[in-house]
Amino acid sequence: MRCYHRAFLPCMVSTLLSLMYVFSQVASTLEDRDLKAPGKPDGHSHDTGHLLRRTPGSAGLRDRDRGLGRCKKLPVSYWEPHWSLPAGVCGVNCLLESSIRKRSGSELEERGSGSSHLAVVACGPRLEETLAMLKSAVLLSHKSLHFYVFAEDDLHEHFRNALDSWPRTIQTKFNYTIYPITFPAENAKEWKKLFKPCASQRLFLPLILKEVDSLLYVDTDIIFLQPVEEIWALLSQFNSSHIAAMAPEHEEPRIGWYNRFARHPYYGKTGINSGVMLMNMTRLREKSFKNDMTPVALKWEEILMPLLQKYKLNITWGDQDLLNIIFHHNPESLYVFPCQWNYRPDHCIYGSNCQQADQEGVFILHGNRGVYHDDKQPAFRAVYEAIRQYTFGENMETSLLQPLEASLRSTTHTYCGRSAHLFTKSLKRSVTSVRREAERRP
Ligand SMILES: *[C@@H]1O[C@H](CO)[C@@H](O)[C@H](O)[C@H]1NC(C)=O
Ligand SMILES: *[C@@H]1O[C@H](CO)[C@@H](O)[C@H](O)[C@H]1NC(C)=O
Ligand SMILES: *[C@@H]1O[C@H](CO)[C@@H](O)[C@H](O)[C@H]1NC(C)=O
Ligand SMILES: *[C@@H]1O[C@H](CO)[C@@H](O)[C@H](O)[C@H]1NC(C)=O
Repeated sequence: MRCYHRAFLPCMVSTLLSLMYVFSQVASTLEDRDLKAPGKPDGHSHDTGHLLRRTPGSAGLRDRDRGLGRCKKLPVSYWEPHWSLPAGVCGVNCLLESSIRKRSGSELEERGSGSSHLAVVACGPRLEETLAMLKSAVLLSHKSLHFYVFAEDDLHEHFRNALDSWPRTIQTKFNYTIYPITFPAENAKEWKKLFKPCASQRLFLPLILKEVDSLLYVDTDIIFLQPVEEIWALLSQFNSSHIAAMAPEHEEPRIGWYNRFARHPYYGKTGINSGVMLMNMTRLREKSFKNDMTPVALKWEEILMPLLQKYKLNITWGDQDLLNIIFHHNPESLYVFPCQWNYRPDHCIYGSNCQQADQEGVFILHGNRGVYHDDKQPAFRAVYEAIRQYTFGENMETSLLQPLEASLRSTTHTYCGRSAHLFTKSLKRSVTSVRREAERRP
């Protein structure tokens, strides 16, 4: 950079700022080295992955840099005041910006046409799994979709490249927005100690996506075997007190986890599983929640911290446990949908115990405990691999369904493998209806 006489002052200022920027980067790199803590081992369904984290303490330095480039460099940001949309994130607010970028224009249109809004939080090695989930969603849905992808910054480009590389015909079916992982600065250390950052991110979605009315949150290890609009339609079955919908954690109390081990309140007989969570966030933001901490009911943004403080020593599955505690005290607010909307190895591992799936098939498969990636439940892995290996544009009957049925036949030595016809029952229907629709179009 050359400094001309006239431009001396602005130039000095910008040089100074650049130096400060470099300094802050060095400082936070050093910081990262100290903070890179190994994730807790975990057999649960949540996103794993080791995250670089920054302390709010370095914010002073970082805030002077107002370059957009910095947005790309922060794997995790904390947002400052009062749980509102993070004003301090990235100096130039990339969160706000990214949501506006895609939203303008499409928002009204999407509300009107009733598209489904699907959110996922992806960290660490979950990129491919997340893409398989999104692929299954877009393959089988007839209505349009909006994806809200929360991911570590170094995954953003990968997501963008992958989603943008899908064929035109597929791209007309969805829009997407990618967000950084953000946390409230207040008590950030508490969240940090307790949860893997990605796992608890979803609790804040109603506060981050303030403009979004309703949302289907899913874990990365979900595969849709039915159009997304069918679970979305459950929103219209909510009575006036329902704000969220989830499936029970277990059908069979004898092998249930919460009823045998939990040291905190939980919903119903066996607790709820939060891997597939449908929310009316408008209501969630409005509601005051009864609780066992204060005599007054608390808003969503007020309840999470005290809850964490009270139960942090007693909870095992992080955010899912907090949701269980909240709905234990507010049972009228939860719409419980049957297990076929969140079908896990627990439903077949010792023989089938999900009655509704026995009758109608599995609607949404949830391969928790890593079963898509090891050999413990080959039937689950077969479904994941079939979706992953399918190439857009090929005939879904011959290139997805038939290869899947063939690989499922080699899993009948397991209980879940013996129930494998339930895995394809609803998929078959969905594939047929996608073909019919394609034939109807000119
Ligand atoms: C995506 O957004 C564009 C522009 O905002 C809009 O025209 C289009 O209909 C949207 N597509 C879907 C599938 O919602
Ligand atoms: C969510 O709840 C609000 C307030 O009750 C309501 O206006 C809105 O239509 C609901 N959204 C859906 C998708 O049902
Ligand atoms: C945590 O668990 C311990 C041991 O079961 C129990 O005594 C205590 O009351 C629990 N704490 C809360 C806040 O429920
Ligand atoms: C809505 O349904 C729940 C059961 O899911 C029930 O507890 C609650 O009382 C119902 N609310 C209203 C207003 O009918």
